[in-house]
Amino acid sequence: METLTLVDKTHDEARQGEAFAPFKLDNNIYKKYFYIESYGCQMNFSDSEIVASILHAEGFGATKDITIADLILINTCSIREKAEQTIRKRLTEFRKLKHAKPGLLIGVLGCMAERIKAKLLEEEKLVDLVVGPDAYRSLPSLVEEAETGQKAINVLLSREETYADISPIRLDSNGVTAFVSIMRGCNNMCSFCVVPFTRGRERSREVDSILAEAKALFEQGFKEVTLLGQNVDSYYWVNPINNEVVTFAMLLEKVALISPDLRVRFSTSHPKDITDDVLNTIAKYENICKYIHLPVQSGNTRILQLMNRTYTKEWYLAKVDRIKELIPECAISTDIITGFCTETEEEHKDTLSVMKHSQYDFAYMFFYSERPGTLAKKRYQDDIPEETKKRRLAEVVELQNELSAKSNLKDIGKTFKVLIENDSKKSNLHWMGRNSQNKVIVFPKENFNLQKGDYVNVKVNSCTQATLIGEKV
Ligand code: SAH
Ligand code: SF4
Ligand code: F3S
Repeated sequence: METLTLVDKTHDEARQGEAFAPFKLDNNIYKKYFYIESYGCQMNFSDSEIVASILHAEGFGATKDITIADLILINTCSIREKAEQTIRKRLTEFRKLKHAKPGLLIGVLGCMAERIKAKLLEEEKLVDLVVGPDAYRSLPSLVEEAETGQKAINVLLSREETYADISPIRLDSNGVTAFVSIMRGCNNMCSFCVVPFTRGRERSREVDSILAEAKALFEQGFKEVTLLGQNVDSYYWVNPINNEVVTFAMLLEKVALISPDLRVRFSTSHPKDITDDVLNTIAKYENICKYIHLPVQSGNTRILQLMNRTYTKEWYLAKVDRIKELIPECAISTDIITGFCTETEEEHKDTLSVMKHSQYDFAYMFFYSERPGTLAKKRYQDDIPEETKKRRLAEVVELQNELSAKSNLKDIGKTFKVLIENDSKKSNLHWMGRNSQNKVIVFPKENFNLQKGDYVNVKVNSCTQATLIGEKV
């Protein structure tokens, strides 16, 4: 079994693990090898698995060993300036490899490819291929073109492409949890965000292909699927034959019904679109995880308006209350941006107050990074000094640390059903798994006959900032 490296740098977390797919380092089997690295969100990670499948069908094997690769792909993110800087820096590290192996091709995929387009070929001389998120089917022919010494590019966005018929090759997989993409693009136009420009219009994937993929995963032994989209609550599929409409609530139910032993997660929910129907469906099925990622971005109504988030502080808080009313044990996490254009000290305090009210279990926190082409760049001045943005971010992070600690302390003494994902990072004498609320729980293996993918009841005895520690009961 071969191992692949995929890196998720958006949240500054490196992921490494074993590939589930049967990649053999055997030159008799594959004519060429590719190495792929992913940056950014889970969508990008999932796209790399589609790319792997497309290349695999053309005889390319995946390898984690960058030095033997004939093709190095980097699946990029544009969400913040820092994300792009990280990738530019990574590209310079490929220079040596290219000198050592003249035929080596280097391809930039994903959001940065889409945002910068052909200019990327001028700016980064070692890049041979530039391929946007809707153009992965053309990768094999682009590779052929690049092999003749020409630079190859396809950054066309599509209104239809969902890669519905492609079975992703699971990369870097623990064999237990997997991503399933249910839609692509985004129509929301939050003023700070590049995604609508890099990923194009929103489109939902055909329902039967989603169900078939989830079912196949379960049959292969996977126990958890995460349904992915920038705004999953606006999933909407109309069957062209009988006009049957499938909403996100209905899709969730259909996936949950595949088996009570298949856990279902989803990400991301836009607060404006998550409905009571969705909440009731989550409450109804034990295997739909009691965890909602509900990005607030800011706690101030004026700033939310400038961000084009289309809800107010009060409306958001009412949504949080509704979640807790319908699903009392539900964990909630969020995304927060500090120092958006014109944000005052008072307005920043509104964000802290929303955090306290919502009692987030977890949060991803960022300072505002102006992005070319966005509405905010066109309309507003990026007028908050970096120092202030960072100080506000530090305040948000400090408060969240307190809230996370409080949330963990509340769990001490409770027993949770845990899905075992892997050995604990620190010791192979411990298992690591998650509860329904998405919290990581570590516990000793002892002499129980357990393996990855098993469900087990674990009583929490103590915690660190990020982890619950318990024992099997
Ligand atoms: N579709 C998801 C978020 C995708 S981007 C949603 O709507 O919630 C992930 C997060 O990055 C966003 O929620 C936001 O908090 C952050 N982000 C996006 N653009 C940013 C920018 N220009 N500066 C700082 N953070 C940003
Ligand atoms: Fe960006 Fe907003 Fe779409 Fe999320 S919902 S991807 S933040 S435009
Ligand atoms: Fe980044 Fe694109 Fe995802 S900009 S966060 S990789 S959709």
